Amino acid sequence: MPEFTTTQTVRLRVNGQDVERQVEVRRLLADFLRHDLGLTATHLGCEHGVCGACTVMLNGDSVRSCLLLAVQADGGEIMTLEGLADGEQLHPLQQAFWDHHALQCGFCTSGFLMSAYDLLAKNPQPSEDEIRHGLSGNLCRCTGYANIVKAVKAAAQGQSSTE
Ligand code: FES
Ligand code: FES
Repeated sequence: MPEFTTTQTVRLRVNGQDVERQVEVRRLLADFLRHDLGLTATHLGCEHGVCGACTVMLNGDSVRSCLLLAVQADGGEIMTLEGLADGEQLHPLQQAFWDHHALQCGFCTSGFLMSAYDLLAKNPQPSEDEIRHGLSGNLCRCTGYANIVKAVKAAAQGQSSTE
């Protein structure tokens, strides 16, 4: 019988911290972040790449952490929602979501924030259509999307407050 390796060392930079862990090669990146690193802001909804709740940044691009294995991210740089705020200071996107009531139950919110972060990093002044397109891979069961789009637009325009 051939011998198969079932664990492997992964080294990553996550939210600015170097981490090294021995993981099962079948471990999903989402499970690695949530269970091995305790970064539970990344949510798992569908686990099939459909809902976007598990979105994180990997090497500057948004990815679905339910569709990647932790070992596939080896050597990479990851940012999760926990890396967005600056200490107690909310990121402008987070503040805009707060100000514009862009969340209800909040389950989808971390994924929306990461997708919006990716969108604004690549297109700092998106049109409403571009925002809708940029967020079209994220599903929300509560909000009807209007306030999410409003919040992203406000963050892009540097307005984090409705007042
Ligand atoms: S949990 Fe990954 S896309 Fe739904
Ligand atoms: S706020 Fe509840 S799923 Fe989006």
